[in-house]
Amino acid sequence: MSPAIENQAPAAALPARDAPVFSPADVTVVFVLGGPGAGKGTQCARLVAEQGFHHLSAGDLLREEQDRPGSQFGQLIKDYIKDGLIVPMEVTIKLLENAMTAALKEKGTTKGRFLIDGFPRKMDQAHKFEEAVCPAKVVLFFDCPEKVMEERLLERGKTSGRTDDNAESIRKRFRTFIETSMPVVNFYEGQGKVIKVDATPSPADVSVTTSKLLTEKLSS
Ligand code: C5P
Ligand code: MG
Repeated sequence: MSPAIENQAPAAALPARDAPVFSPADVTVVFVLGGPGAGKGTQCARLVAEQGFHHLSAGDLLREEQDRPGSQFGQLIKDYIKDGLIVPMEVTIKLLENAMTAALKEKGTTKGRFLIDGFPRKMDQAHKFEEAVCPAKVVLFFDCPEKVMEERLLERGKTSGRTDDNAESIRKRFRTFIETSMPVVNFYEGQGKVIKVDATPSPADVSVTTSKLLTEKLSS
């Protein structure tokens, strides 16, 4: 099912609400953060296979919306992604909410566990999502040196077809990560919600650590 959003201005896409759409008693939300190339998508795929999470990548949803014929936000998303900037939160949050609703509906249940990958990348997204969609239980943070991330992204760029896996866009994405997204990690760190994992080792090794720490944290 396409998580397309209706034709409306970004700000109008998210009406004000008294309570989140999903209760944290039913829906477990794990935010997955880390710099570009830290391995968020790779690790999420492993958690899906091992622990039955539902994986939603904000970047993938944005790219899908960008390519959807007739999308009002196609050009806007394209421009933001190329420059490594954060798309206005209303668009991304609506896409995530729609995708969560669709995933639960498809399974015929109101309960579910979601890995929300690459989100929230900015403080306003964090506040708005928790207020309007669902409070988060845990934040997985994949910590990785820029040099390693750059190598991975340039390698991926040979085949990814992504408009932002090139040296210039990568520089801009690193900058956005440090200036805009690290404050989100620090905010959740202050709430004691962050699991920090060294993302430098091999995917298999990172996965063992991640799986163990996440299971411990969710059951505590
Ligand atoms: O996570 P990913 O690397 O796929 O994100 C690609 C781009 O999508 C980001 O650099 C940014 O331009 C956009 N994005 C966003 N807000 C998010 C996630 C991604 O604007 N929460
Ligand atoms: Mg990704």
